[in-house]
Amino acid sequence: MFISIIVGSSRQNSQSAKVGQYVSSLVATKHSIHSVKDLLPKLWDSDDFESMKEQFAAKNEIISEELNQADAFIFVVPEWHGMVPPAMKNLFVTCDKELAHKPALLVAVSAGIGGSYPIAELRMSSYKNSRVCYIPDHVIVRGVEQVLNTPDSANQDDTRIRERLAYSVKVLEEYAKAFQSIRKSGIIDLATYPNGM
Ligand SMILES: Cc1cc2nc3c(=O)[nH]c(=O)nc-3n(C[C@H](O)[C@H](O)[C@H](O)COP(=O)(O)O)c2cc1C
Repeated sequence: MFISIIVGSSRQNSQSAKVGQYVSSLVATKHSIHSVKDLLPKLWDSDDFESMKEQFAAKNEIISEELNQADAFIFVVPEWHGMVPPAMKNLFVTCDKELAHKPALLVAVSAGIGGSYPIAELRMSSYKNSRVCYIPDHVIVRGVEQVLNTPDSANQDDTRIRERLAYSVKVLEEYAKAFQSIRKSGIIDLATYPNGM
């Protein structure tokens, strides 16, 4: 089993990258971590879907292969102006069926008390064609600059978020195992139904 962690901030030294690193330390199975800023340096700029996807696959052969091989995803996504950053949305525009029928855990990040909008936005609109399956549990890391900074927890809030992250990663790992049988069932037909309704 393999889990791909995607950090959704395109900023250098982002807090989301810090959270992603912490989350990666909780994943018991094989995993990788990438930031959207390295994954997809270019925004969609073509009418030619096939050529853009080929370019993505050629430029990011290893990453594209990794996404294909992943059994589950963890998206660590900051709230920017009440939205998901554009580089993260670009993932859903550029990916083909790498995410299809795979469970994903959403981890939203806010320096303040925000973080609910990226959860709502991704749950509402990112799954239609990608067919990614968000698990019911998600985590919102609020006041991110005050937590996950040291090997040991600094205070009660830090402990609470560490425990919630650890629990949610374990839940995702169980979903990841169970979803393998859905993809192997022979029922999934993305050639006939490439896009959702
Ligand atoms: C362009 C931009 C817009 C932001 N808008 C919000 C926001 O709407 N709500 C919020 O809680 N935090 C907002 N923040 C602050 C982020 O919560 C903060 O930068 C945090 O560290 C997560 O982002 P990062 O992973 O890019 O560091 C914004 C940050 C940036 C760079």
